[in-house]
Amino acid sequence: MAILKIARMGHPILLQRAAPVADPTAPEIRRLVQDMFETMEDAPGAGLAAPQVHAPLRLFVFRVGEGRTSDDPDDRPVGNTVVINPEIEPVGDDVRLRWEGCLSLPGLRAVVGRHWRIRYRGVDTDGAPVGGEVCGFHAGVVQHEYDHLDGILYPMRMTDFRLFGFNEELSRAEALAAGERP
Ligand code: NI
Repeated sequence: MAILKIARMGHPILLQRAAPVADPTAPEIRRLVQDMFETMEDAPGAGLAAPQVHAPLRLFVFRVGEGRTSDDPDDRPVGNTVVINPEIEPVGDDVRLRWEGCLSLPGLRAVVGRHWRIRYRGVDTDGAPVGGEVCGFHAGVVQHEYDHLDGILYPMRMTDFRLFGFNEELSRAEALAAGERP
């Protein structure tokens, strides 16, 4: 197990289209996935795509923490999950604005429109199918991580650059707006 170096925005690997994983059950893929789980937990983050750790392959890891979910029964906490060679499709046309961050843009967050409900599928390191129909935070993190596999970073999805900033400043402004002492 190892904590991997995370590429930051500006590194060209983040703009590449990643290649399919030829054998999801290969030992080197299992090792990469274990290291990505460890790197995601260490950061800490909710998701990490292989290109972010300098491996231009179509796989990502994520987790849905307690307290991140909505009331919808399809949006429940999920432990560490890997999706290899994912496919993704929106369900319906409900697009909602939500805050998101990215380990390749440390300290920043922004409001990005994402499909509220999606269907996705892929396989894990045993070659077993993973995915399903999900919504809310789970759907958002999968869309964000899938974008990394096509060389897309969240600022490329933004429509209102006023809703983009450093976590510290945004949190201070939110506290002031809520009438709290910052
Ligand atoms: Ni990201």
